[in-house]
Amino acid sequence: MSDYDVIIIGAGPGGYVCAIRAAQLGLKVACVEGRETLGGTCLNVGCIPSKALLHASHSLHEAEHNFTKMGLMGKNPSVDFGKMLEYKQSVVDSNTSGIEFLFKKNKVDWLKGWGKITGKNEVTVGDKAYSTKNIVIATGSEPSSLPGVEVDEKVVVTSTGALELKKVPNKMVVIGAGVIGLEMGSVYQRLGTEVTVVEYLDQITPGMDGEVAKTFQRMLKKQGLNFIMGAAVQKVDATKTKAKVTYKLRKDDSEATLDADIVLVATGRRPYTEGLGLAEVGVTMTDRGMIETDDHWRTNVDGIYALGDVIKGPMLAHKAEDEGMAVAETIAGQAGHVNYGVIPGVIYTSPEVASVGKTEEQLKEEGRKYKVGKFSFMGNARAKAVFLGDGFVKMLADAETDRVLGCHVIGPAAGDLIHEVCVAMEFGAAAEDLARTCHAHPTYSEAMREAALACGDGPIHM
Ligand code: NAI
Repeated sequence: MSDYDVIIIGAGPGGYVCAIRAAQLGLKVACVEGRETLGGTCLNVGCIPSKALLHASHSLHEAEHNFTKMGLMGKNPSVDFGKMLEYKQSVVDSNTSGIEFLFKKNKVDWLKGWGKITGKNEVTVGDKAYSTKNIVIATGSEPSSLPGVEVDEKVVVTSTGALELKKVPNKMVVIGAGVIGLEMGSVYQRLGTEVTVVEYLDQITPGMDGEVAKTFQRMLKKQGLNFIMGAAVQKVDATKTKAKVTYKLRKDDSEATLDADIVLVATGRRPYTEGLGLAEVGVTMTDRGMIETDDHWRTNVDGIYALGDVIKGPMLAHKAEDEGMAVAETIAGQAGHVNYGVIPGVIYTSPEVASVGKTEEQLKEEGRKYKVGKFSFMGNARAKAVFLGDGFVKMLADAETDRVLGCHVIGPAAGDLIHEVCVAMEFGAAAEDLARTCHAHPTYSEAMREAALACGDGPIHM
């Protein structure tokens, strides 16, 4: 008899969700995690701590820019960065201990240590081997750097180091205008740092709807972020306290340098599979270093599954969570399923940016006939009342059937608003279905309805 029905390696959002769901479905489950706390990158050094810093720095921005407009007078708050990091850590701690509580509640064993697959049905943690019917690899990803750039997590940092700086830097260079670069760049810009983002492409946030990306960059510039676009970083020379970033402009091959106290390398992440024993057990990898899986998250080795950042698809916590549930259901003999066409993406800057489904560029490329319903937050009473009228909702629907194909939002609470479109898309709804749904007044969500109305006879407030 095996020790477990399933052993999951990694307790990030993919792994811990898989563990809890598998236990709920009656399986005997263990989850291996080598960190001191559960929750993986997301809870410890990713999504959660960055949200705490985004909230704190946004509050400072509100105090500096909007309080007096509302008749709230007095001295602006000053930044005690040490205290801010304590607040951030308390947010992390309450979330990671929450997962530990959920493991106990659901009778999931936490095997503490780094796991290695030592056989088709065996996982070894430290010097103890456990037998299991199924193995799920949920080991996530790690930041990937660039040639010529050595990360020391002090002066040249990844997102992990950027959450633990000793003080607010005077000058920061961010390499890469992706999600991490822009979220962390805005945090420090709001805390008073001069931030310059160097991006290889001519557009920020690759893959985002072009119109939204342009508006987003304009807003970030207005807030004070500097951008050098079409520039490939060649190298970073760092001392113990300073760094010099050399980049080459793509248009004319000219080279230039930037000085910084801190350089944030935000050029993507790569799957983390080191020390797992995958080659020994014969698990097939793709040429991009990911674990190859079929449509049911099965690797080529019977009984070994993989999910989240180690396999194909967007590296997002909620994509991993969905896969975690589906894999648990599959192992339990149910029909686990993930709808990859309806996975929202959110950037938690201020304003937030959120999207789901197709972009206009993708629809054009597919040659699909579509209509666009746009609505500006300037026509939304609630947004205007709180100085957040900049931004818009863009709904994309099929030109003939009116079926919602995608939605892109830049504006207040975009990351929450997007979910009504996710639900609509899951149900195959038409834009008219959203347009005919009563939305409470005054809420930001009325802008979603107005964009849906704009796909038909037109919005009311524009
Ligand atoms: P990213 O892939 O989003 O962006 C990296 C950027 O770096 C790209 O725009 C790329 O063109 C640029 N770049 C690459 N090499 C360069 C060079 N030599 N010089 C200048 N620019 C260069 O990667 P990022 O921001 O590091 O995020 C990693 C992963 O984490 C992504 O998959 C992201 O979705 C995920 N993530 C998601 C969050 C969210 O959903 N809110 C938050 C944080 C991370």
